[in-house]
Amino acid sequence: MSSDKVPDTPVEIIVDLLSKAKNVAAARGDVPKELTSYLQKALDIASGLDDYLEKMTTQESEPLAELYKKTVTHDWDQVHKEGKTMFRLPKECITGHVEGQTLKMLIHMSQAKRVLEIGMFTGYGALSMAEGLPEDGCLVACELEPYLREFAQPIFDKSPHGKKITVKTGSAMDTLKELAAAGEQFDMVFIDADKDNYINYYNFILDNNLLRIQGVICVDNSLFKAKVYLEDTTDRNGLALREFNHFVSNDPRVEQVIVPLRDGISIIRRVPAATESSRTQCEITDDEVFHGVKGRSILDRMRLDGKVAYVTGAGQGIGRAFAHALGEAGAKVAVVDMEQNKAEAVAKELFLKGINTISIKADISKSEDVQRMIDTIVSKWGALHIACNNAGINMNSASEDTSLEEWDQTFNVNLRGTFMCCQAAGRVMLKQGYGKIINTASMASLIVPHPQKQLSYNTSKAGVVKLTQTLGTEWIDRGVRVNCISPRSLAAGTSSR
Ligand SMILES: C[S@@+](CC[C@H](N)C(=O)[O-])C[C@H]1O[C@@H](n2cnc3c(N)ncnc32)[C@H](O)[C@@H]1O
Repeated sequence: MSSDKVPDTPVEIIVDLLSKAKNVAAARGDVPKELTSYLQKALDIASGLDDYLEKMTTQESEPLAELYKKTVTHDWDQVHKEGKTMFRLPKECITGHVEGQTLKMLIHMSQAKRVLEIGMFTGYGALSMAEGLPEDGCLVACELEPYLREFAQPIFDKSPHGKKITVKTGSAMDTLKELAAAGEQFDMVFIDADKDNYINYYNFILDNNLLRIQGVICVDNSLFKAKVYLEDTTDRNGLALREFNHFVSNDPRVEQVIVPLRDGISIIRRVPAATESSRTQCEITDDEVFHGVKGRSILDRMRLDGKVAYVTGAGQGIGRAFAHALGEAGAKVAVVDMEQNKAEAVAKELFLKGINTISIKADISKSEDVQRMIDTIVSKWGALHIACNNAGINMNSASEDTSLEEWDQTFNVNLRGTFMCCQAAGRVMLKQGYGKIINTASMASLIVPHPQKQLSYNTSKAGVVKLTQTLGTEWIDRGVRVNCISPRSLAAGTSSR
């Protein structure tokens, strides 16, 4: 902390007090050495903390660094004197590097897509959070001072994430009312304006469902220079924050933690609806529909964490997309293709995304390859839950010219191969009493995609539908579901999926 900076956070205040105590001790000759050395150690620990956090935290992006510099070098007094801002804005308002990265991390962790910020100032927190949002994410920033939108916008425009930010100028409460009337909802709300009104913003957000079911509210300055817990506090903001913290900690709708980072950040989440307190508030039917099967929400229940899957024909096209989708949903995925390099390339993509994966080279028209594929998966991961039998070929020819070789080859892969995969996977799944088989049929099994010339393909895919219906009927009572999908192929021609 530079010597001219007013101590602002509990740690900065401790550093200031320890420095003063050290000076007092140094000025006296009768202070025991032990006490001086304890003071020095305490000072080293406290004064090193913020610097260390700065250094160890991932560096900010260039636009954020520029925004920070522009903010701290701006003459806010002058701007106010010129009547450009209603209030004199202290540059210390800015969230800054470590807090900005913390917010960005929270956005990642909560997988937020829509964020609301109350109190944008020059947009440092807004841009930090926007950097954590997905490409189609959005952040609405409420800011009283129109001057600040003009100040921030040129730097937002330089960042690829700036387009995610919409600034709403005016009173934050008016904006909240407008958002609630429009039925807007947010995954994360960051409250950082107008401390007297924190409690009103917080209640309005919860009472009007501006926060999504799994949403999180973050609140800045919740330790407010330690004044929230110092007994002699008379400061208005300190008392407002103390009352706010107390209110939230007693609010049965939420859980909260206060993280002692800088001036304190509260992280608040809604508790699941079916808690004792809400049960007593209104008549609810307390069943799985209300609180979810095993207390899990619908999207959570659709996750595939811990499941083992394979996809044949996963080296490209739909198969590759299936492999990514299953992996993103949490499954371990065996990427199977007859071309080893393609299987390896897709497995590498999955691995880069943090998905547990292996690649297997297998030609599904060969029974020994099919069995080896299943054995490899089961010996590696101990089970098989999801089988996507997707590999197939299409060799176009007019029906009058279709050779028996083409017919046999197409059926060997599309129908015989799919059957062998179903059977080998099914044997494992029937033993487990659990399994999902998804075969890739085709719209060509139901309609004739005229004028494409693909008799063998169409007929083999019609066979895949009947194979699926038969296996599905035979195995359903033993825990194994067999379904097929019938996608539309966009291009005719020889292709392997
Ligand atoms: C602590 S600063 C926000 C810092 C900011 N979150 C950041 O990341 O740097 C508080 C901001 O809230 C704004 N503000 C104060 N009262 C407000 C109100 N009633 N409605 C909207 N904004 C308000 C101030 O103009 C100021 O820019």
